[in-house]
Parts: sequence; structure tokens; C-alpha cells
Amino acid sequence: MTTAYLAAEGFADQLQEELQRAGAAVSERHERLLVCDGPAISAAWAANIWHDCVALPVASIGSAAQALRDIQRNWATYAPLHHRRAKLIQERLPHVSAKPIVFPAAAPTAPLGSWTLLAPDRMLAAARCSSPFANGEVTFVEDRTGPPNRAYLKLWEALVRLRRWPGPGQRCLDLGASPGGWTYVLAKLGAQVVAVDKAPLDPRVAAMPGVEWRGESAFALEPGSVGPIDWLFSDIVCYPARLLRLVEKWRASGLAKNFVCTLKFQGATDHDSAAAFAAIPGARVLHLHHNKHELTFLLDAKA
Ligand SMILES: C[S@@+](CC[C@H](N)C(=O)[O-])C[C@H]1O[C@@H](n2cnc3c(N)ncnc32)[C@H](O)[C@@H]1O
Repeated sequence: MTTAYLAAEGFADQLQEELQRAGAAVSERHERLLVCDGPAISAAWAANIWHDCVALPVASIGSAAQALRDIQRNWATYAPLHHRRAKLIQERLPHVSAKPIVFPAAAPTAPLGSWTLLAPDRMLAAARCSSPFANGEVTFVEDRTGPPNRAYLKLWEALVRLRRWPGPGQRCLDLGASPGGWTYVLAKLGAQVVAVDKAPLDPRVAAMPGVEWRGESAFALEPGSVGPIDWLFSDIVCYPARLLRLVEKWRASGLAKNFVCTLKFQGATDHDSAAAFAAIPGARVLHLHHNKHELTFLLDAKA
């Protein structure tokens, strides 16, 4: 069995380290695509995981496109090798819409496969992939006037991947909230937001209905002083090991249901902490398209 892992631009080394630490045998690397023997393992740094890859012969452009169409309709190409030939095959495949998403919306559910040309006469294809987006890349119709910064895109993407988001009547805690991109998104969805940061919120965000700012350290905050919350969000700049202790404190309190937290890495990637987050029952740890040297931890109470 063969599995291929595609990293986002600039993060193939992190993915390779993660796979090697997990004992996966990387047999080939083509720029951002790492091909491994064996079944898929969870890999946070993969923008897309290609499950159960098959090698298919390419006798001609037409027969290659036909072979893919015979498997299913929708295919995304990643072509670090034999780019021109791959493009000719892709042009013969049905068009896959990649329209920017208007938030809020759930990620598409239609199967989307991935393929690449490993040699002029041989392709590698996977009908089933981990990301609902071509090569894990998602774009949005942006909100250029409301949020005070671009951090909101990361939260939009996390909620699109969760296929759920807070709404009216729900209570959110936004840790490390300043200047307020995430708080803006949550308040716009109609949720109540307790925004915690020693730095203030942008005044326009602070004035939104349902927003309460607490100028404290998130680490000193006792869950009992906040009470029950439907969602805990964190975008705090801190070491992932410290964030893990904070998340464990809130999980132990039983007061928080869903979690969306950014793990931020300074210098070397702390793979141990990332693995500890991934080991939390029900957790997903993803490198989102809008993440930099960061991962996003998702814990969905409904999953
Ligand atoms: C990347 S910014 C957050 C951006 C925010 N999510 C947004 O959308 O505007 C990180 C924030 O973490 C805050 N921070 C750092 N240490 C903190 C702590 N101990 N408690 C609360 N916030 C903290 C910083 O003040 C900073 O505003």
C-alpha cells in the first residue's frame, strides 16, 4: 500500500520530520510530495493526504485522462515533474470549481482525488484524500472592511473544516484576542464573546454587541471565573507546551465543549507537543492553508 503526503509551500521539511518521527518510510520526495510505503498515518503538516495510491500506466494523454475519469469525476493535479504533460492530461478532465468560499459555509463533501505524473508513462493517483480542497488550498471572498487584521482567515478556515461554527445563544472564550480579528468573526456570527488579552481590542470590535473584554493573562484565568462556554478559542503567542497545559486545565474543568487553538512554533518545530495535542481523544491537528509556522488544534464536541 502506498500513501502520499503533500505539504504546503515552505513546510515540506516539517512534514518529512513528522513522518520520519512516526516511523513512516519515505520512498520518494518530489518537491512538496512525499510518497511512503504503508497505510496513511495522521500527519498534521500534510496539507493533503493521498490515501491508497495506485500507479496507473500513461500510454497517451487521452488514455490517462480516461483512466482517471473512469475512477471518479473530480481530480486535482500536483505536478512537480513532467509539468507540461500533466497539464495536457488535466485539461481533459472535468472542470473542478475552485470558487472562493463565502463564509460561513461548510467545506465541500464531493470526493476529490489527487494525481501526479511520476514518469512520462506512469502516474500516481488517489481517489480519496484528506482535504476537501485541491492540494489543501482554500480561498475566501475576503472581508476587507470589518476585521482589524487578517487573522480572521485562519479562523474562517478552521470553522469551514469543522463544518460547524458558533451562533446566537452560544458563549465563546477568545484567548489572546487582541486586536480582535477572531472576536470580530465570532460576534458577527451572533455569539457572545469573552475576549481575553492584556492588550485592548480594536475599538470597533470592542463595541460590537455581545463582546466583553477582560484585560488579563489567559494563563491566570480560572475556568470557574468564566463559567460554562460552548467554544474555547486561542490564538495566544506562546510555547505549544504551555498551551497544552492550558487546554488540559479547561478540559479537566468540564466547562468548555469545543476547542479551536493555534499552536505557534518559534524556531524548531516542537513535534512532541503537536503529537500530544493529536493524542487527545477526538482531536484533529491540521496545518491549515492560512497557517504559517503553526498548526490548528480542533476538538469538536459533536464528533
Ligand atoms: C496573534 S495575536 C492574536 C490575534 C487575534 N487572534 C486576532 O484575530 O486579532 C496574539 C495575542 O496573544 C496575546 N497574548 C500573549 N500572551 C498572552 C497571555 N498570557 N494572555 C492573553 N493573551 C496573550 C498577545 O497580546 C497578542 O495580542
